[in-house]
Amino acid sequence: MTPLPKATPLPKAELHLHIEGTLEPELAFVLAERNGIDLPYATPEQLRSAYAFSDLQSFLDLYYRLTAVLRTEQDFADLAEAYLVRAAGQGVRHAEIFFDPQAHTSRGVDIGTVVRGLAQALDHSEERHGVSTRLILSFLRDLPAEDAMRTLDEARPYLDRISAVGLDSAEVGHPPAKFAEVYAAARAAGLRLVAHAGEEGPPGYIAEALDVLGVERIDHGIRCLEDEDLVARLVAEQIPLTVCPFSNVRLRCVDRLEDHPLPAMLAAGLLVTVSSDDPSYFGGYVEDNYQGLRTALGLTDEQLRQLARNSILASFVDEPRRERLLAELAAHVAPPHRPEA
Ligand code: HPA
Ligand code: ZN
Repeated sequence: MTPLPKATPLPKAELHLHIEGTLEPELAFVLAERNGIDLPYATPEQLRSAYAFSDLQSFLDLYYRLTAVLRTEQDFADLAEAYLVRAAGQGVRHAEIFFDPQAHTSRGVDIGTVVRGLAQALDHSEERHGVSTRLILSFLRDLPAEDAMRTLDEARPYLDRISAVGLDSAEVGHPPAKFAEVYAAARAAGLRLVAHAGEEGPPGYIAEALDVLGVERIDHGIRCLEDEDLVARLVAEQIPLTVCPFSNVRLRCVDRLEDHPLPAMLAAGLLVTVSSDDPSYFGGYVEDNYQGLRTALGLTDEQLRQLARNSILASFVDEPRRERLLAELAAHVAPPHRPEA
């Protein structure tokens, strides 16, 4: 049989990606060695085998512990460069990248070190990898709101590099309204607004993020399905949801990929996008998520194309780039699929 041409992934935007969650075990070992830090694992393989989580908190514990290897501008530049190379290979043409300053400033690493380091890689990304980027400063919601406000103030010298603020970390017990003042200050500073809501937390947190914080996009949001009226509102207002299927399975928000509600969300008319969240920890990057949806849930080429289109529509790119990316997607020819033997 003649080999089929190699499939090129759909051009798409990745809108929900924590740069700290792209730290692959091999790079963690390189950075630990460079910075004289002892990791409590003998090998990258041993570290990878610790990536088994019972819920969001069990993941966050390891995620924050491993950030200890990130100390210098070069470390953050290397981390971002490694992600951008992988992202380009997965068809990502635009990436909106979360970073968690408080996970670093709490260890004595200055926010300037973080932003300048990431910017070293991001500044060349479009030219080197064809991936345009935005940075989203994410507040840790399990810390006091005063800490978030201080973080926003520390970020002020770097706001030309930051497009938006977000809200992540342990959700339950830390409702969006806790950050009302911080979000008002971020809005006044000209930043766009997003927040994680409805991952482990209740659907009410989604409405609160929209009504009290005034966010434009909801990260995760899968628990909206528990509230019919909320779904109707999200559909009517076409609020984008950045859904992360592999993450939902690995953090036990959903039992198996085969049970993921994404098809129901699309069928309801929600503006669903797909991202990888913390790809090093959750078993795959964004195209791996797309292909997982095809394999486990039978999503069609047309549905996958709709997800890619939604990601471009929901992104914070400027309008000329949005038009270019939409045109690129329209011109993308789906590879032929070999019929099942
Ligand atoms: N949820 C909440 N906080 C996070 C996540 C997530 O999926 N990833 C990194 N911080
Ligand atoms: Zn996330």
